[in-house]
Amino acid sequence: MKKKVLVAREVFDETLQYLAQHCEVASNQANVPYTTDELVRKLAGVDAAVIMSVDRVDDAFLAACPSVKAVCSASVGYNHIDLAACTRRGVMATNTPGVLTNSVADFAVCLTLATCRRLPEAERFLRTGEWQGTHLKEMLGVDLHHATVGICGFGRIGQTIAQRLQGFEVKVLYAARHRVAPEIERRLNASHAYKDDLLRQADIVILILPYSQETHHYIGQRELGLMKRTAVLINAARGGIVDDTALVEALEARRIWAAGLDVYENEPKVNPGLYKLSNAVLSPHIASASEPTRQAMAMTAAKNCVAAVSGGTPPNLLNPEVRLQGVRA
Ligand code: DGY
Repeated sequence: MKKKVLVAREVFDETLQYLAQHCEVASNQANVPYTTDELVRKLAGVDAAVIMSVDRVDDAFLAACPSVKAVCSASVGYNHIDLAACTRRGVMATNTPGVLTNSVADFAVCLTLATCRRLPEAERFLRTGEWQGTHLKEMLGVDLHHATVGICGFGRIGQTIAQRLQGFEVKVLYAARHRVAPEIERRLNASHAYKDDLLRQADIVILILPYSQETHHYIGQRELGLMKRTAVLINAARGGIVDDTALVEALEARRIWAAGLDVYENEPKVNPGLYKLSNAVLSPHIASASEPTRQAMAMTAAKNCVAAVSGGTPPNLLNPEVRLQGVRA
């Protein structure tokens, strides 16, 4: 008998076709997310779920879905999954590392340039008919080329951003829990810096670190106070890494020059203060949203899911201890 899988969010036809070759599949192909209660109801008797970073998996959820043996997220970030609870309850959890590295790095550079050069504001200015012809002092921005760029978080994506930035001849500083190997520093022309030093020195600060209790409000009032008044802050990582209330205050007071944000505390809600600020460039959590990358993320999650329900070890298992201690019956 085929194992049962629920796909909690809209995915691609190819993803569903692949899953259907191996499992009995039910899916939410409406572009309206299930509420947690709906999701719990739909998961009754189901073996595994393909979820997204907006689907919260905590201990109560796992208790309410006793048949579920695997939660397979189509995201690299997994702060929405309580891994310890999954392990305790014998549930495998997986993510999709690697397949989105290039697209997220591209987008981080795109958001940096759009923010530095005020692209959305300039477009609004033109579309509303305010433009009277080129004026030397109009829409003045900040240069990315030859800037000092501080990258906070220097894993796969952070390093790929540094690689992209070499073309802009920038000086790269990075802050990370672990210093990378000297040959990587040399290849990426990057120097390690302590967080506070990086914040003091950087013209542009790019956040690309995972969210956890330790990185909650990694940038708050104190950190914004250390940054240059001319600095640009980019968050392409996770909401909650920045204290959005403190950021709104800093942007309003021009304590820093501008921010480009792809992620927010309490998504999909956005701090209303941000909407009012012309020096905030805002996008709706789309860093990985190129067609091939989103396809690859969905397929990677599906492959993890099929491996999990077939008794194998999913390639991107986040809690391998579960395999040793036993998956729940
Ligand atoms: C990820 O993969 O973590 C992206 O932020 C999409 O949620």
